[in-house]
Amino acid sequence: MKAIDTGLKPKERADVARELSKALADSYALYLKTHGYHWNVRGPEFFSLHNLLEQQYREIWAALDEIAERIRALGELAPQSASAFANLTSIKDGDPEKDSSEMLKELIKDHGVVIATARAALDAADEVGDEASVDLMTVRLAAHEKAAWMLRSSLGER
Ligand SMILES: [Fe+2]
Repeated sequence: MKAIDTGLKPKERADVARELSKALADSYALYLKTHGYHWNVRGPEFFSLHNLLEQQYREIWAALDEIAERIRALGELAPQSASAFANLTSIKDGDPEKDSSEMLKELIKDHGVVIATARAALDAADEVGDEASVDLMTVRLAAHEKAAWMLRSSLGER
């Protein structure tokens, strides 16, 4: 097997990939919850929330592929099973019985979790000069901050 020559040492690549895997697992959990709440949200604001959540789960879905493929470009294997993701994330399953404001509050909190994980991955990448991963995590931070703002505003908050 030929050595992977990207200017990063094997340990540096593995360290960044480990942090990216956590960001991937958190993103996957939030994707599942957002898609489920798109189905199960109820109330007078149904249509707008149903559509907002669709926009958000589609955005996260596309990002899952970007993050996983960045892990592969670093020469590591991407986690791919529900159990592997469950082991890597602290985000709990959604509850379809919740009312709409409880769903939104939970999603806002979970976006905060993903933001913290993405920031840790960004810092790990920055430490070893992995600019491509820094770039990807920067985009993810902005996307989750934007999503959280839209959810807060839907609750009448700033
Ligand atoms: Fe749908």
